[in-house]
Amino acid sequence: MAKADLMDRVVNLAKRRGFVFPSSEIYGGFRSTWDYGPLGVLLKRNVKDAWWRTMVQLRDDIVGLDSAILMAPKVWEASGHLETFTDPLVDCRNCKERFRADQLPESGACPNCGAKGSFTEARQFHLMFKTHVGPVEDDAAVAYLRPETAQGIFVNFQNVQTTSRKKPPFGIAQIGKTFRNEITPGNFIFRTREFEQMEMEYFVPPDDSPRWYEYWCQERYRWYVSLGIPEEKLRLRPHDADELSHYSIGTSDVEFLYPWGWGELEGIAQRTDFDLRQHSQFSGQDLSFYDQENDRRYLPYVVEPAAGADRATLAFLLAAYDEDSAPNEKGGTDTRTVLRFHPALAPIKVAVLPLSRNDRLVPVSDEVAAMLRPHLQIDVDTAGSIGRRYRRQDEVGTPLCVTIDFDTLDDKAVTIRDRDTMTQDRVPLDKLLAELQDRLGQP
Ligand code: GAP
Repeated sequence: MAKADLMDRVVNLAKRRGFVFPSSEIYGGFRSTWDYGPLGVLLKRNVKDAWWRTMVQLRDDIVGLDSAILMAPKVWEASGHLETFTDPLVDCRNCKERFRADQLPESGACPNCGAKGSFTEARQFHLMFKTHVGPVEDDAAVAYLRPETAQGIFVNFQNVQTTSRKKPPFGIAQIGKTFRNEITPGNFIFRTREFEQMEMEYFVPPDDSPRWYEYWCQERYRWYVSLGIPEEKLRLRPHDADELSHYSIGTSDVEFLYPWGWGELEGIAQRTDFDLRQHSQFSGQDLSFYDQENDRRYLPYVVEPAAGADRATLAFLLAAYDEDSAPNEKGGTDTRTVLRFHPALAPIKVAVLPLSRNDRLVPVSDEVAAMLRPHLQIDVDTAGSIGRRYRRQDEVGTPLCVTIDFDTLDDKAVTIRDRDTMTQDRVPLDKLLAELQDRLGQP
């Protein structure tokens, strides 16, 4: 399949099946934001839950946080965002479109109208959204929507450290909304003006920072692989010096091979003690850590894996999309669209399908659904032929279907049908839940 086709097909499937809708669509859309539909919200939630499980639940050294989006404006002064969080912007004099100067094609032609040499001089454009808090819209009331979740972690460093009684090396993880007034949002949910980040700040003794940086680069790369992204579509790319953010002395991106080429999925940065030092200075609060064992006080260094929940969702969607051929009801074969999600990410784990809407089958199907529902996200589908219903579930990535047929009434057993192998196995009802959980690899 051509790469452009893949993107079109995924965007189209996402809309058609209720994963992602253009925001404010009935008003003509809003271009830079997207809404997650019934299946999309489940998928994205599963992505965030998988991250949280790996980063917080399964570890002894990382705790969570949920800090506010609106923060004291001083935070952004201290963090350097007020001064430096800008992108270079140019206008095309011909068509009036705006572009990031660092993303223009080498030919120098306008990507929108093709005019050559039509760009204005680059000027710095601020990416933070500004708003006012309270009833008076004067300068004293200015506030910003956070452009990264990380600062909520830094300003709470001491609160979290003392209440959790963790000592470096330890981390604080947070998932939450972030806002950037991107000059060129685009590529579906890849670059938007409102998005969700999954960030973890790992506080370490300064000398250990390079080692932990290496460690987190490998860990984060492996996380995507463990959830089904093939290694040939992933790479770790160290930043060149001129790409580094103002706070970083070394960053590597986990990159994914999107249909338009390699692009960032997550960044792992060595932030040094930049943030804690700045906040100590600007707030007047000493944010250093007293290391009792060695009787010394120091500002921890930070290693930060920073991922985007929306970008990860897009990468998992793109990597999962496949077409193969499957037998149809006329004895031939059809092209089948299938999302080969890892079971942990699949929005629906199990579809419950009575063979028909027959009066004797539906009550049994209802019972099976009621038994599974507390344990698994299920879907019950009774409409259309069984073959068509399997296709509908394949298309949204449901790993397993359970079919209730007339034999079920006698043998108290159902058929489990596997999305990837399309094989079918008969399983007694009293073993069904355990068998499903086992196949889904549920803990
Ligand atoms: N605290 C560090 C930080 O914010 P970043 O590389 O600017 O680093 C981290 O952002 C991640 O957030 C990116 O790797 C990407 O997944 C996601 N991200 C950044 N800008 C985004 C945007 N405009 N739309 C969607 N995701 C975005």
